Amino acid sequence: MNDNLVNSADLLAWYDANAREMPWRVAPSDRKAGVLPNPYHVWLSEVMLQQTTVAAVRDYFVKFTRTWPTVTDLAAADDGDVMAAWAGLGYYARARNLLKCARVVADELDGIFPSDEAALLKLPGIGPYTAAAVASIAFDVQATVLDGNVERVMSRIFAVMEPLPASKEHLRGLAAGLTPADRAGDYAQAVMDLGATVCTPRSPKCDVCPWADGCAARMAGIAAELPRKTPKKKVPTRYGVVYFARRRDGAALLERRPDKGLLGGMLGWPGSGWATEQMPHSPPIDAHWTTLNTTVRHTFTHFHLELTVLTASDVTGSANVGEFYDTADFKPSDLPTVMRKVWDVANPRAKDDI
Ligand code: ADE
Repeated sequence: MNDNLVNSADLLAWYDANAREMPWRVAPSDRKAGVLPNPYHVWLSEVMLQQTTVAAVRDYFVKFTRTWPTVTDLAAADDGDVMAAWAGLGYYARARNLLKCARVVADELDGIFPSDEAALLKLPGIGPYTAAAVASIAFDVQATVLDGNVERVMSRIFAVMEPLPASKEHLRGLAAGLTPADRAGDYAQAVMDLGATVCTPRSPKCDVCPWADGCAARMAGIAAELPRKTPKKKVPTRYGVVYFARRRDGAALLERRPDKGLLGGMLGWPGSGWATEQMPHSPPIDAHWTTLNTTVRHTFTHFHLELTVLTASDVTGSANVGEFYDTADFKPSDLPTVMRKVWDVANPRAKDDI
């Protein structure tokens, strides 16, 4: 019943007046004049934006595009430099796949991103969401993006009572039915902006929504209750130990984590594994170790982590795991957030000078 009440033209008119400015975006007035964004910028921003807010991504995007202005530059980058530049954004598999994808595009596709969803889907790290986002935003292909924002907007417009994630394919069909052939890129960004700024999770601003008149959930007074979600399993807590050792010259003992698995390819402090019960562990180097009173806590998607931190200063000799990094070769900002938190508790006074 909503098909004739809600349409892309009303949303596009709203977007013309309300599009958010983003460093990778081309404004709707320029797109209408035929300007399309750089596909490298669209792909990079969309990978960064997965599970991450626009506010958190901005500076990383600017840093990446300054350091590596083209996909060919990124493909030629040193893996460690890219992982360090990604540090703090989380979900590090994205950075490893980013490099793999850049290398396929540079080496096999002459540095040119494909414009159709099927070809994009074959590239490392590109799933249905990113393929649709790049095809539509960079090339104006009629492709349907479905992220959390779009799922929420569709559940409300069509008052979908079935909970997520079971309703996902139904929502995808509803979203596809609204996607226009013309201005597909603006439409994709418009529906995501609407979800992010108007059709928000808790207090939707229906008074300023261009689709309010056709919104079934608003009419039924249940907009804020949708989408329904099947409750997730409670996340368990895991425990671990990390060893924070520094030499007198400041060099720090770090270990690069294996490419596969959590924080893969990132630098970290040596330590035990992480499990629901404390695992056996032994120091990476002979030293006088002190256990800090402060526990480091960090939440990953599937578990909370509590790390006990042992520190040793002025250590000498060689370590049985990891390597010493001179102060010139390593910045705390190169570390993933959980390892950065360990640095912060082990160096309480240094916190502000980094
Ligand atoms: N979230 C993810 N990608 C986005 C985009 N291109 N515009 C608005 N919000 C987004």
